[in-house]
Amino acid sequence: MFDRLNAAPPDAILGLTEAFKKDPNPAKINLGVGVYRDEKGATPILESVKRAEAKLLDQESTKTYVGIPGDAAYGVKVRDMLFGAGHEIIAGGRAATAHTPGGTGALRVAGDFIHTMLPEATIWLSSPTWANHPAVFKAAGVETRTYPYYDAANKALDFDGMMAGLREIPAGDVVLLHGCCHNPTGVDPSPAQWNAIATLMKERGLLPLIDFAYQGLGDGLEEDAAGLRAFCAAGCELLICNSFSKNFGLYNERVGALTVVAATPEDLGKAFSNLKVCVRSNYSNPPFHGGAVVNEILGDPELTALWQRELAAMRDRINGMRRLFADTMRAKTDKMDFSFLTGERGMFSMSGLGKDQVKALREQYSIYIVGSGRINVAGMTEANMDVLCSAIAAVL
Ligand code: LMR
Repeated sequence: MFDRLNAAPPDAILGLTEAFKKDPNPAKINLGVGVYRDEKGATPILESVKRAEAKLLDQESTKTYVGIPGDAAYGVKVRDMLFGAGHEIIAGGRAATAHTPGGTGALRVAGDFIHTMLPEATIWLSSPTWANHPAVFKAAGVETRTYPYYDAANKALDFDGMMAGLREIPAGDVVLLHGCCHNPTGVDPSPAQWNAIATLMKERGLLPLIDFAYQGLGDGLEEDAAGLRAFCAAGCELLICNSFSKNFGLYNERVGALTVVAATPEDLGKAFSNLKVCVRSNYSNPPFHGGAVVNEILGDPELTALWQRELAAMRDRINGMRRLFADTMRAKTDKMDFSFLTGERGMFSMSGLGKDQVKALREQYSIYIVGSGRINVAGMTEANMDVLCSAIAAVL
C-alpha cells in the first residue's frame, strides 16, 4: 500500500533539530527549535521540578485515569496563573480548563472544537506566525487566513495595518493572538495597544484564541498576562491555549491547557461539555505527570518562590543575550544594525537573514536557523557569541 506514497518534507522547526543532531561539527550552534538553553548550552531540569518530582514519587498511590479534562486541582492553578487569583472570571464560574498534551494539544482541541461547534468560522493568524499553526488547524478541518502583524522593514508591530485588518474580519470568526513573546518575531503589542485590540474585537464580535506559550519569559508572569487580561476586561468570550513547556522546562512531559471563558456559567457548561467530546475522540484523557508537577510547585509557596527565581534567571539570560548579540554584531560589522533585538521579548527574533544566508550559515558554519530567518536567542551563550557573530558578519 505504501510504495505509492511520496515522502513528506522534514518539519520546518523539528526537522532542523534532527539535522543538527547528525552534524559532527563540535562547534555547531542550534538557534532553531524554541528550547531554552543555559550558559553552558544545556537544557537542565529545573530544581523546583526535581523537588516536586521527588515528592510525587514518594506520595503517588495510583496510575488510574484522570478525567477527560485532567486533574481539577491543576485546572485551578492554570486559571490562577492566567487571570490572577480571585479574578472575577474565576469567582463567577465563567472559566473551565482541560489539561492538554502541551500547547499544541490545546490548539488542536481548540481547532476540533471550532470545526464542530462553529463550522462557519475561519481562524485568522498573524502574518507571520508559528510555522505549525496553519498545519494544526488544517488537520482539524478549519480554514485559516492571515491578518497584518509585522512590519519587516522597520522590525516593528504594524499596529495600524493590524487594526485595519481586524476591522475587515467578519463577525463570528476566530482571531489567534500570541499572548506574549510573539513567535517568530518577538514583537508584542504594548498594554495600550492590547486594550485597543481587545475593544475592537469585542465590538466586532470576533472570538479571541490566545496562544500563550511563553508566560514569564518576556517581562514577568504578571506583565506578560497584560494582553490576555485586556480581553478579559473587555468582556470577551475566550479560548486560551497555554503551555508549561518553556516556563517550567517540561518540554517532553507535554503539559499545557485549554481554558474556555464564557459569558455565563450556563454557556460555559454548554461549551465545555462539547470540548470534552473533542478530547475524548482524540486522546481520550491527558497524561498526568507534568500537570502534577506544575500543581505541586504552584501549591507549595517555597517551591513557587524557587520556580519564580529559576524563571527569572531564564528570562534575564535571554534578555542579556539579546543585548550581547546586538553589541557583538555592532563591533563586527556596520552592514546591518541588530539593535532591534533588545526591544523584543521571548526566545525569538526575525533576524532579517535571507534564505541564502541561512543556508550558508548551516553549510559553512554548522549554525542552524529556521528557513524564515527566525533565530532562537536562547541558543546563544557567551561562549558561542563570538563565533556566531563572526559567521553572521561573514555571510551578510
Ligand atoms: C518553536 O517554535 O520552536 C517551539 O514552539 C517548538 C515547536 O514545537 O515548534
